[in-house]
Amino acid sequence: MSKNIAGEELMNKIVALCKRRGFIYQNSEIYGGMANTWDYGPMGVELKRNIKDIWWKNFVQERDDVVGLDSAIIMHPETWKASGHLSSFNDALIDCKTCKSRFRADHIIEDALNIDVEGKTEDEMTEIIHENKIKCPVCGSIDWTDARLFNLMFKTFQGVVEDSSSVVYLRPETAQGIFVNFKNIVDTTRVSLPFGIAQIGKAFRNEITPGNFIFRVREFEQMELEFFVKPGEDEEWFDYWRNYPMEWLINLGLSKDNLKYYDHPVEKLAHYSKGTTDILYKFPFGWEELWGIANRTDFDLNAHIERSGKKLTVFDHEKGEHIVPYVVEPSVGVDRLVLAFLVEAYTEDIVDGAERVYLNLKPELAPVKAAVFPLTKKEQLVEIARDIYNRLKTLFNTEYDDSGSIGKRYRRQDEIGTPYCITVDFDTIDDRKVTIRDRNTLEQDRIDIEKVRDYLLERI
Ligand code: GAP
Repeated sequence: MSKNIAGEELMNKIVALCKRRGFIYQNSEIYGGMANTWDYGPMGVELKRNIKDIWWKNFVQERDDVVGLDSAIIMHPETWKASGHLSSFNDALIDCKTCKSRFRADHIIEDALNIDVEGKTEDEMTEIIHENKIKCPVCGSIDWTDARLFNLMFKTFQGVVEDSSSVVYLRPETAQGIFVNFKNIVDTTRVSLPFGIAQIGKAFRNEITPGNFIFRVREFEQMELEFFVKPGEDEEWFDYWRNYPMEWLINLGLSKDNLKYYDHPVEKLAHYSKGTTDILYKFPFGWEELWGIANRTDFDLNAHIERSGKKLTVFDHEKGEHIVPYVVEPSVGVDRLVLAFLVEAYTEDIVDGAERVYLNLKPELAPVKAAVFPLTKKEQLVEIARDIYNRLKTLFNTEYDDSGSIGKRYRRQDEIGTPYCITVDFDTIDDRKVTIRDRNTLEQDRIDIEKVRDYLLERI
């Protein structure tokens, strides 16, 4: 029987396990730490890579209609004028004059009055906060500055001269790298509509209120697909790309009960979107966006056509003419996926009267697929175990462990979600068989050493 843990208690346990077992560390910890910035340790980097590899396999490699891209983080500044990010990628922030805390004005209003202020200007938000005498959540005073707009893009300078002509931005989404390469891909590959361009890469947003561990951070990784279609076929493809990620998440172990769709009301759509649906996940701190699917129409390509003067079109064989396609975009943050899979996987149960913590990750996501233990440090057992380990590690991530009791070694692997542990015992010397223990069921199979490889390959 597993224990029911939720909310803040669950988040605290996940954060502690991530630190303890090398999944996620606070950034620059030796200098006191960078607030809300996180580094992925040896286990975290494996989990993250597995997520990215599976996404790439299912969204690019296995599909005939998607190609990949890896574009630069710092792009021509004109990009952000065309995309609308320089003028519209803003949040309204407000400061408490007493304690100097800074907040997003919409969050302050939504939390205090439980009303939605999407679409309101910064002046309207200032008025609501002042009129309703909303208190500062930190110090309780009612002494606010006016709300003012704050662009979320990180600004820096390229080259040695720090003047306005050398200002550049860290990309706030990977998507624009795809749009500015649209012509290159159409000209140099054999794509024809409908087709997608996919990219995994870092994005940066100077979020006013980052938080909830790796949920909202300023530097994160996105996996984005821009799927170009004929205008008129966009709604059909929008439905398709609404369903595909949902099935992907469920196949990888997220429970249907913890996932739901949120369709954005038409009046609240982003400037580029004709329709947006979020896939929400039930995080310990509430239902929050995991994956956004948007029908971006021809907004981006037209904006880049206008600003660059280049022809960003593709030939429509049916019409016999060049057209500007529509685009449907499923976009997800890798860090949010890492958190969702950890939340879903974290389990506590009782085994032989003792508490155990394990990560119930699907084997394809698990950082380590198998661990090999000699029962004792007796030379013959170590030799056989090392030999099995050396053969398996060329196929997938495997660990060798001969320190401490077998029970302790199992617990160490359970905590990082290793699905299979292989023990070499004294009988192995004569029968050339080992015991393979299943992380979830704790059942043990005794099988020939020569069959271990296939046994594992069938299951991971
Ligand atoms: N190109 C579209 C786009 O960027 P978005 O809804 O702003 O749309 C897409 O972001 C996804 O990126 C989100 O669903 C989320 O998973 C992730 N994401 C956005 N901001 C994030 C942040 N500050 N920290 C972590 N992940 C974030």
